[in-house]
Amino acid sequence: MEYTIVLVLSYIIGSIPNGLLIGKLKGVDLREYGSKNIGATNAYRVMGPWPAFWVFLTDALKGVAGVFLGKLLVGSPLSLLAGGIAAMAGHNWSLFLGFKGGRGVATGLGVIAVLVPNVTVIVFFLWSVIVFTTRYVSLASVVAALLVPVSMWVLGENTEYFYFGIVAAAFVVIRHKANIQRLLQGNELKIKAGSHAGP
Ligand code: G3P
Repeated sequence: MEYTIVLVLSYIIGSIPNGLLIGKLKGVDLREYGSKNIGATNAYRVMGPWPAFWVFLTDALKGVAGVFLGKLLVGSPLSLLAGGIAAMAGHNWSLFLGFKGGRGVATGLGVIAVLVPNVTVIVFFLWSVIVFTTRYVSLASVVAALLVPVSMWVLGENTEYFYFGIVAAAFVVIRHKANIQRLLQGNELKIKAGSHAGP
């Protein structure tokens, strides 16, 4: 029963569309501008650095909340991962957006930052290098997501963590399908503040 509560609550928390809400506060619907995604990257393109920072932070906190719910209500290693993955699922397939949503990067980062800080440092470093050299956040996110289970395996993390890493990476890659197609066609959007400013 406690597991069900962890999964349901974490999914509902993950479903909160922070990017959309912060955008609405600024009079912008992120789904109509730039990549039309509700994440921090598109918030940066459309609204600039500060709104993007708040979208990133609040989305990451949803992942942290999922893990803490697992710890609080069950307390086993698996329950922490269940809370984290349910929060990511909520973000990517939101209850409040007709099961549409974001890409799962910031929420996933929140999960791994609490569970495996060493892996987080490695993937965040690589993500930053790719963003600064290519200006393609989507490319950086997909590569970083794939590196999560690989780093967990190399560093000898628990098997549960490794399997979580594979599922989390799949969640991120699946939601980047359109970005991957644009990258292959050479028309993916590069990152630049205000490049697709809203009204
Ligand atoms: O975290 C999302 C990022 O990888 C891509 O965002 O807006 O370019 O689709 P966007």
